[in-house]
Amino acid sequence: MLKPIILKIGGSVVTDKSKPFSARKRIVKRISGEVATAIRSGCPPLVIVHGGGSFGHPIAQKHGIHKGFREKTQLIGFVETVQVMRRLSDIIAESLQASGVPALPLQPSAITLQKGGRIATMFSRSVEEALKMGLIPVLWGDAVLDEEKGFSILSGDQIVSHLSALLSPSRVVFGTDVDGIYPSDPKKGEAKPFRELTRAELEKITIQSGESGGIDVTGGMKGKLQEIIAITSMGVEVIVMNAMKAGNVLRALSGGKVGTLVKP
Ligand SMILES: Nc1ncnc2c1ncn2[C@@H]1O[C@H](COP(=O)(O)OP(=O)(O)OP(=O)(O)O)[C@@H](O)[C@H]1O
Ligand SMILES: [Mg+2]
Repeated sequence: MLKPIILKIGGSVVTDKSKPFSARKRIVKRISGEVATAIRSGCPPLVIVHGGGSFGHPIAQKHGIHKGFREKTQLIGFVETVQVMRRLSDIIAESLQASGVPALPLQPSAITLQKGGRIATMFSRSVEEALKMGLIPVLWGDAVLDEEKGFSILSGDQIVSHLSALLSPSRVVFGTDVDGIYPSDPKKGEAKPFRELTRAELEKITIQSGESGGIDVTGGMKGKLQEIIAITSMGVEVIVMNAMKAGNVLRALSGGKVGTLVKP
């Protein structure tokens, strides 16, 4: 089998992170079309991971799910977080399917156990078998059981780095709502993203990076950059680009140049 590409579609793209439960259906539809076109023109097997955006993050934040189990009243918040993420993933999977993409939703909380907020075990054979079948597995940031903390948040970004170790993808693409990796948070006035970075350069930037434009219980851009450092240390190139702009997802999946390229 050809080496796959892992595409993370940020919650900052598929939702408006400043408004609770606001899916950007038009953008999801456009991205679905670009994924369909990429597949038709022979791009490698694809795994899609999406983020929580204004579905998962605010509920998880309200009930302190990312801090682990403290009291019984959190339990309802835990299952609500799982539930709203199922709703967001339905929107995305159904949109992909409507474009002719055989998207297979694989609920991360049903196949994963964490330990201290990191993946302890994930039944990822479903992902591998689905790929062999020509299906497109779709996973997402989720609230999951944790052997140490009771429960915790599994970020979509962490899923991407976990699957990278397993599938050795040819390329990992992070779509967000900004044009790439900047020296500091672009929403606070920074002008230009990096075109190319080495892992060593990225390590320096990560320290001074901001978190997120909206609520983000997984460390926003800083958490993402830490996962990207892990992925590039596996020898895999990573692209961070703006998936709000038409054509960028297709370009990134077809091996084109867009956003910031982080070299291993
Ligand atoms: N150095 C930086 N370079 C680029 N973006 C940055 C930087 N520092 C902070 N940011 C912010 O990070 C945001 C993207 O991270 P965020 O976690 O909010 O999105 P996401 O990962 O797409 O969403 P989700 O976690 O829901 O999937 C951008 O909107 C930007 O404002
Ligand atoms: Mg994030």
